[in-house]
Amino acid sequence: MPEITSIQSTARQQSQSSIGEPITRTDGVLKVTGAATYAADNHPADMLHAVMAVAAIAAGRVTHLDVEAATAHPGVVEVMTPDHRPELSKDPDARDDPFMFRLDLLQNDRVRYPGQPIAVVIAETLEAATEGARLLAPQYETETPLIGLDAGEAFVPDGVGPGEPAETGVGDIEDGLAGASRRIDATYETAAQYHNPMEPHAIVAAWDGDTLTLDTPSQAMTIARHRVAGLFGVDADNVRIRSPFLGGAFGCKGMILSPQALGIMAARMTGRPVKLVVRREQMFGPVGHRAPTRQTLSLGLDDEAHLTGLSHHVRTASSVFDDFFEPAAGVSHTLYASPAIATSHDAVRVNSGTPMFMRAPGEATGSLALESAIDEAAAACGMDPLVFRLANYAEVEPISGKHFSSKRLRDCYQQAAERSGWARRPQAPRSMRDDNGLLVGWGVGTATFPVVMFQGHARAVIRADGSGLVETGAHDMGQGAWTALAQIGADSLGLEMGHTTFRAGSSELPDAGVAGGSGHTATAGNAIHNAGRDAIDKLAELAINDEASLLFGAERRDIIARRGRLHLAHNEARSDSYRDILGRAGLSEVEGQGTGAPDQALQEQFAMHAHGAVFAEVKVDPDLGQIRATRLVGAFAAGRVINPRMVESQFFGGMIWGVSFALHEQATIDRRSGRIMNADLAEYHVPVNADVPSIEAISVPEEDRHINALGVKGVGEIGITGTGGAIANAVWHATSVRPRRFPIGIDDILAGERGS
Ligand code: MOS
Repeated sequence: MPEITSIQSTARQQSQSSIGEPITRTDGVLKVTGAATYAADNHPADMLHAVMAVAAIAAGRVTHLDVEAATAHPGVVEVMTPDHRPELSKDPDARDDPFMFRLDLLQNDRVRYPGQPIAVVIAETLEAATEGARLLAPQYETETPLIGLDAGEAFVPDGVGPGEPAETGVGDIEDGLAGASRRIDATYETAAQYHNPMEPHAIVAAWDGDTLTLDTPSQAMTIARHRVAGLFGVDADNVRIRSPFLGGAFGCKGMILSPQALGIMAARMTGRPVKLVVRREQMFGPVGHRAPTRQTLSLGLDDEAHLTGLSHHVRTASSVFDDFFEPAAGVSHTLYASPAIATSHDAVRVNSGTPMFMRAPGEATGSLALESAIDEAAAACGMDPLVFRLANYAEVEPISGKHFSSKRLRDCYQQAAERSGWARRPQAPRSMRDDNGLLVGWGVGTATFPVVMFQGHARAVIRADGSGLVETGAHDMGQGAWTALAQIGADSLGLEMGHTTFRAGSSELPDAGVAGGSGHTATAGNAIHNAGRDAIDKLAELAINDEASLLFGAERRDIIARRGRLHLAHNEARSDSYRDILGRAGLSEVEGQGTGAPDQALQEQFAMHAHGAVFAEVKVDPDLGQIRATRLVGAFAAGRVINPRMVESQFFGGMIWGVSFALHEQATIDRRSGRIMNADLAEYHVPVNADVPSIEAISVPEEDRHINALGVKGVGEIGITGTGGAIANAVWHATSVRPRRFPIGIDDILAGERGS
């Protein structure tokens, strides 16, 4: 594995701290030169290839597999089926916590969803394994699949998302709506979406006795180790995971899923290292997705255009065998002030793979509906939608009554409005056209995302030569963790980037927690910050007690660390270098340990969210109904910015996924077979460069000392939350048609046109 150090960076060197510098990605050169090793780039000696055969039906039973034909194919070594597979130490259908999902590890002949693994062919070459899998020619007994949001009796789940209540609220919603002088009732539907990072799930698994080495992309190596240890009956310490680079993830690499476990089973069965890479079409089944939703919102308004009631009900779906419920109504707890708010979820079971965390799970789906309904409310009051939002956003979190930083939202609205030229927007819809006769519309959406922190650990070392080393098992999905965390590391040790080595991406390093919930920088970053401070404390202790030091007898609190030296904050002349302190003490290094975790006392006192506003321009062809997002301007307040280049890039990414949500992305299900008809990247549309002509993201400065020591919130997912609504509202402004289905289709626009 290539060692990544910060030395390759082209940063403007700064005298004090690298925090806040727009340093380019420390792993950028490795990536663009092909030197970055992704999981599937590993080829241990004697390695075999495994290919999954997956179900072509959505529900039923596999009645026959031609194992004989597959086994007879030259190069095929083993065919793993429910009748012929290694024993597992844990039932794949057992589930102990919200971050453990039920797996399909050939436990029987049942088919519960299309794309479910039904056999694995292991061969000397990828070609032989692929051909062997084809030769299995499965036969089925087919049952009628459960499809869609009316598939059966709906039920109220025990919890939604990672365990939030399915039904909650404040005030009396009946009274709130009954007392309103105006009322908006609207229903919105969102499609099923599949994560589809560029790099599919892949694993290279190698057993050595009871020790297991895995090359596999992971957003949470410690959770993965324990999952694997449980399934295979080995100690978690015996499971080593290397995950230096991920080619995207979006939530689907948060857990070890069926294909990875099957790869490990194949390695155990054959006694040789095995590589298993999920084929693109196999990404639409066993590795999670975002469930579809149908969301019904009711908003009551008084004569002053203030909300009197907000009710948000979500229907969603989970698989027939496991639970994950898209927590879409949660966003209605946090954004707008209303004396009465009620949110609820119910669900049906369908023959799909189990849904899972995906790109702002809940906030993305829910804010799209909420922001659309808020826009309808503004229009019903005859108000500019920005003015309406400024009058209705919450200054304390409605659900908890706790204070939070939403005052920054005003700055976000104002800065994005100014930049986008919002003041020139005519209020009436369908009143702008461009030179080519296309309808032009401008819309606004509010962005919000909670501040999530997991628990993570780090180690920081100052070496006798004055250099630093920072280690944490962090995960870089492409978001820039290698870079931002290295900046925090250098800062925490009072060193420049070029004098600090940063190591991450391996389970042998301290557990950095989960790269999810946009909480990795906050979690691992605070762990590093604390580890660095611990190392500096030890160094200061040495100097304070060393008569030969100019810092002899000083108070620890008066000492600061900068550029490889400790010195008195008020007297730079009294200083000592790391190298000299360690040299005189005869030590080769000092080591610090640190943990990053949510502070319970602060959590009880404050609600924690990042906020933002997105303005969108769309152009719509009045004859063809074709929609293009032509301009996006976002402004976000998300705490301290470690690296403005990485942060801007995260905002861009989120906003582009917002375009995707509003206009492109959907899995289309065949109502007869229950299969996904567009299980490939040609027909499962995601935005490409041509779909996003102009995009700007403004970071609104925010120092929020109530969040964590570093003041870091999260930037990974918030961009998706404002953008979808802004586009939907811009489509209305262009056409006077209120989108009710996402992605918004040409037919929706044309049907609306006919009706208007
Ligand atoms: Mo994300 S859905 O928290 O990886």
